[in-house]
Amino acid sequence: MTEYIVFAGTANPALAAAVTEALGAVPGSCSVERFPDGETSVKVLESVRGKDVYLLQPTCPPVNDNVMELLVFADACRRAAAGRIHAVLPYYGYARSDKRHGRRESITASMVALLMRTAGIDHVVTLDLHTDQVEGFFPGPFDTLTAVPTLCAAMRPELPVDAVVVSPDAGRVKLATEYATRLDLPLAVLHKRRESGTRTQVTHLVGEVEGRTCLIIDDMISTGGTLVESVSALRDAGAAAFTVSATHGLLLRNAVERLADAGVERLFVTDSIPPREDPRGIVRVVSVAPLLAHALRQLVQDRSLQELF
Ligand code: R5P
Repeated sequence: MTEYIVFAGTANPALAAAVTEALGAVPGSCSVERFPDGETSVKVLESVRGKDVYLLQPTCPPVNDNVMELLVFADACRRAAAGRIHAVLPYYGYARSDKRHGRRESITASMVALLMRTAGIDHVVTLDLHTDQVEGFFPGPFDTLTAVPTLCAAMRPELPVDAVVVSPDAGRVKLATEYATRLDLPLAVLHKRRESGTRTQVTHLVGEVEGRTCLIIDDMISTGGTLVESVSALRDAGAAAFTVSATHGLLLRNAVERLADAGVERLFVTDSIPPREDPRGIVRVVSVAPLLAHALRQLVQDRSLQELF
């Protein structure tokens, strides 16, 4: 086994501490500073020569700062003759920018992948990616873990037997099917039209929801707009109650209040992103630290991750 070292970026210190503790590792010594002009400085304070380096850094908000910090970290390790550099991104910022909707747009998820490679990152580990194609943007090994089994285990005791798993749009059907299979529940699908970056409109519903508790799933909740629209369409179709589950709880602006006001009783998210305030007491945060520690334990021994899927 190659000697390894785990460095915690500043994006999610609580998760990094939980992962390293579960792994029985001491985080590598480093300093991260932001200069008054906004530039990022990283100093690696111990030798990484020839070692496997794991950089734990979700690229969550502030996304640009956290992406840049990851790149600077990798560059510092590369220049200090690290062996392999592994980026562990429990949340991959810009993953939604995975295609062009018009002719003059960036595919920023691809650009970020190429920047990571240029900075010296050899391998990426992430969690419930927005779309599978993002894996192909990185020209090297890429492992995508899933928090669905962890979330299902946490919510199973709180779901009634007549619940139905709902995909909020066609793009989430695969993820919703994974939930439905694990929870042994039926599936319903909404079809939505995106009207702007923050507004969507539900146009169709396939499946039976009348009188049932809907478990609406998504990969991420940003402003909550998608889910509020989903709840409204499901209520119009006679649904009785609403639970939400998403791996990445960005929960920006007043997303939690909006969802609570819409009638969402419970909102399951992981700690891939530092948990936001929960003034309405509806958020249940499920930790992915054991999952990430398990994955790292396998990786540091060059063992398969198959048992995690
Ligand atoms: C979109 O395709 C994603 O899977 C999410 O549904 C979306 O990004 C959530 O954003 P918001 O909460 O702002 O509607």
